[in-house]
Amino acid sequence: MLARTLILKTSALTPVEKLVRRSFLFKPLVRRFIAGDTLEEALPPALDLIRRGFKVSLDYLGENTKSEEEALQAKATYIEMLRRIDAALTSEQKNASIEPLNISIKLTQCGLDQGEAFAEANYREVLQVAEGFGNFVRVDMESSEYTERTMEMLQKVWKEQKNTGTVLQTYLYRTPEDIETILRLGMRVRLVKGAYLEPASVAHEGKKKVDEEYVTGAKRLLDEGRYPALATHDEAIIAELNAYVDAKRIDKAGFEYQMLYGIRRDLQERLLSEGYNVRVYIPFGDSWYPYFTRRLAERPANTLFILKSLFKG
Ligand code: FDA
Repeated sequence: MLARTLILKTSALTPVEKLVRRSFLFKPLVRRFIAGDTLEEALPPALDLIRRGFKVSLDYLGENTKSEEEALQAKATYIEMLRRIDAALTSEQKNASIEPLNISIKLTQCGLDQGEAFAEANYREVLQVAEGFGNFVRVDMESSEYTERTMEMLQKVWKEQKNTGTVLQTYLYRTPEDIETILRLGMRVRLVKGAYLEPASVAHEGKKKVDEEYVTGAKRLLDEGRYPALATHDEAIIAELNAYVDAKRIDKAGFEYQMLYGIRRDLQERLLSEGYNVRVYIPFGDSWYPYFTRRLAERPANTLFILKSLFKG
């Protein structure tokens, strides 16, 4: 946890960002986690995974837009993604009960920092386009500064739009309550541990507690949730959840595991071959820096390896 905090704090410094962006040493690692700068680069690996039986969620990287123009550009890209996905899928794929290729978006990329009404209008427009294509839009959960506003907006929009869902983070104290809200609504949710730097006033600090909360929340969702998405690469947790699914005879078709592009491909393959639904989250775009640093912070060994190479050079 200490290394994670250190990496997240250091990487937020402007000179460090400049160094990482310029250094060729980071390029292979960036490419491991991010499918490319453009939709053209991200679609082929997505379609290849779908041919192999996986499901995919495409993420256009970017968060905290600085102007309305930037947010409108992001909205246009989301809509273009939905169009291109529809054009790329076969009619059989489009008629599947659970969409094979959906999108994940961020409310701060829809312009939440520029105004709630503005972001909501953009989000609603994306949902309406997705509905026309029979597709689904997941709202990623960002730092705790946005959790309440995200939950509120989701519930408001849910009254008219059912092709959406969100993400809950088990490091937050509030999440057990939010899980109950989601269950009452019948909304789809992705459960994660949480990737941001949060103060002890809102989030558990120890990994053990976050993991325990993950297992408790995941079991609750498996029991009563609507097609929950269990997003983790934690093998011990996955083994415990699989045992739970077996013991309670829960239908494997009723939920999915989700993992990030470039992480634990072996585990992704294994779960798929065992008959589980597995969705791979594929990010693309040139605003990769914040996403990339969150991936480094999850596994400090990645950063250590690069630092060693820097000092050797
Ligand atoms: P944990 O961090 O304990 O890792 C378990 C094991 O997984 C490690 O031992 C290692 O083997 C492997 N691993 C994990 N991360 C790795 C990495 N970066 N590099 C190499 N190996 C790694 N968060 C959030 O706050 N909001 C969100 O909307 C989302 N969305 C999201 C979507 C999807 C599909 C996933 C899988 C994750 C997210 N997350 C997220 C990120 C999430 O909160 C969490 O930070 C990561 O999933 C890492 O946590 P794990 O559950 O994998 O466990």
